[in-house]
Amino acid sequence: MPSGTDMVLNEPAEIVITCPPRQSWLVAQEVGELGYPVLTEDHQSVTTSGSFEDCMKLNLELRCANRVLLNIMKFNASDPDALYKEINKIAWEQLISPDGYICINSFVKNDSIRDTRFANLKVKDAIVDRMQEKIGRRPDAGSNVDRSVFFLHWVGDNCGIYIDTSGETISKHGYRRYSHKAPLLESLASGILRATAWDRKIMLINPMCGSGTLAIEAALWAQQSAPGLNRRNFGFMHIILFNRMRWNEIRDESLARIIKSISPRIIATDISANAVESARKNAKIAGVDGFIEFRKCPFEKTPIPEGEGMVILNPEYGVRLGEEEALEATYLAIGDFFKQKCQGKTGFIFTGNLNLAKKVGLKAKRKIEFLNGKIDCRLLEYELYGGSKRIPVDQLQ
Ligand SMILES: C[S@@+](CC[C@H](N)C(=O)[O-])C[C@H]1O[C@@H](n2cnc3c(N)ncnc32)[C@H](O)[C@@H]1O
Repeated sequence: MPSGTDMVLNEPAEIVITCPPRQSWLVAQEVGELGYPVLTEDHQSVTTSGSFEDCMKLNLELRCANRVLLNIMKFNASDPDALYKEINKIAWEQLISPDGYICINSFVKNDSIRDTRFANLKVKDAIVDRMQEKIGRRPDAGSNVDRSVFFLHWVGDNCGIYIDTSGETISKHGYRRYSHKAPLLESLASGILRATAWDRKIMLINPMCGSGTLAIEAALWAQQSAPGLNRRNFGFMHIILFNRMRWNEIRDESLARIIKSISPRIIATDISANAVESARKNAKIAGVDGFIEFRKCPFEKTPIPEGEGMVILNPEYGVRLGEEEALEATYLAIGDFFKQKCQGKTGFIFTGNLNLAKKVGLKAKRKIEFLNGKIDCRLLEYELYGGSKRIPVDQLQ
């Protein structure tokens, strides 16, 4: 009979890291840099191998991912009754408290299941019946993801049951309490930065910064500050295997890696005073306000200091009718700004509107595909060759 604890504790198990479509290559880079093998990579996940403790580290450190799932068991099941029998064999009493609360989520493609909620219910019944039988008490169950969360992956006859060690998604990094227009999800902003191949040494300039997500993620990355450091609750904390002392050690090791003062200048500007104020407050919450030079100005007036650097903009895309026309002039002006003020830098535009992107009037060297929610987006890279029309550093406030 399989025992959840034995499997999870004694052998490295499969770890599936989920992410938005088109971001798995970035997550794979992160996983590799953290010292874990990348076993497989598909459009929405990366698999590696490790222990429950490794999942704690991955939840703490990963910047571009959604969730970290730790496999408890793989088995075959052709229908809901077979699913129930297999799930009921797992030693759940070694993983969860009868006084706890469980939530089951799933991805199901099986002919016997029309509604995934039915599969979730079967898993929940198998767990609570086992707990009732073994210890005479059972946890509550429901749809909240702030305590013990389990994930069923069931395709054809192949089933996998996982601990969702994240619980709430790790795509939010906890600092964005103030938002302006269309803020990027923190994990997407982090993915965009990684896709630029920024070396975390050269200057990063972010006109149209909005609530500051790109600039803040850049500063946190340059500092090697883990996105999970300020988070108080993860799914793994609601599993019996969780060892608070070990978690504190893992956090301390991560804190010790933080670079106290970073070398690259990071400049963030926006035309809206409200946006700059929000960005400043968010940066303060993230602990990086001291590393970002904020200024309220139209993007064309963003000071571009001398030296190697990249300029990254995330203009609005114009989703509603009529908005696109109004934005044409903005994209045209971004092209002029790049040509006239950013010579010698590398320019990037992140947009969900490829028609508008053409108005920039420059040939993109690279076009990297992203999805922002359901919107097909591109990160466009421009090499801005030319002379050296530069603003001296001392003119920057
Ligand atoms: C899509 S939002 C940027 C969101 C940002 N990446 C974030 O994560 O919060 C676009 C921003 O461009 C700013 N903006 C629009 N027109 C501008 C202009 N002409 N000059 C400078 N900023 C402008 C808006 O105020 C808005 O904050």
